[in-house]
Amino acid sequence: MNLQDIENLYLKRQSCRSYADTVVPEKLVREICRVALLAPSAVNAQPWQLIAVSGDKAAEVATCVQRLGMNKFAAKVSTFVVVAEGKGNLMMKIGSIFKENEFIKNDLGILTAHLVLAAEAAGLSSCIIGWRDEEKLRTLLGLDKNVRIPIVVALGYPEEGYSILKKKRKPLDEVFTLIK
Ligand SMILES: Cc1cc2nc3c(=O)[nH]c(=O)nc-3n(C[C@H](O)[C@H](O)[C@H](O)COP(=O)(O)O)c2cc1C
Repeated sequence: MNLQDIENLYLKRQSCRSYADTVVPEKLVREICRVALLAPSAVNAQPWQLIAVSGDKAAEVATCVQRLGMNKFAAKVSTFVVVAEGKGNLMMKIGSIFKENEFIKNDLGILTAHLVLAAEAAGLSSCIIGWRDEEKLRTLLGLDKNVRIPIVVALGYPEEGYSILKKKRKPLDEVFTLIK
């Protein structure tokens, strides 16, 4: 694998908001999550848990990401992976305080990136969803009230005719500097 292969994968990964009815096999969801969980984390604390939701419960998760008329596409999503905070470790907590760096937030973001790219490599499409009702999700999934859920990822096969658009990104020179 070379940089071009990675770029091709990145270009192909697109936030998909139109899904086919085909259900994603449970085994595939598990495999994608297993691979994504190879993601790095501060002091290797792995302060996360992935909760895959399919079937009738997925329809309930959809309602948790649709407040104020947002994310209408979620109604057709048959599999969600909820990216939730899990147990970290003492080193991570001490490091976060001393370095004023909320490692857990970085770690969950990095995990999410691994997840959507693993899904893409497995032939699925995905959409990262940050517009969610955390309280409702916690109740639905039986999580403690202090467990943060920054992201929900929609997974599925794209609808027929779905096309990959050209990526809109800031020009490199606006966001990249090389200092010698
Ligand atoms: C943290 C985060 C939260 C996001 N939340 C939503 C969301 O609630 N609904 C949605 O449709 N897209 C959401 N997106 C997708 C972004 O809109 C999308 O990544 C961005 O427009 C770039 O497009 P691309 O993913 O197709 O390259 C989110 C993305 C990130 C990284």
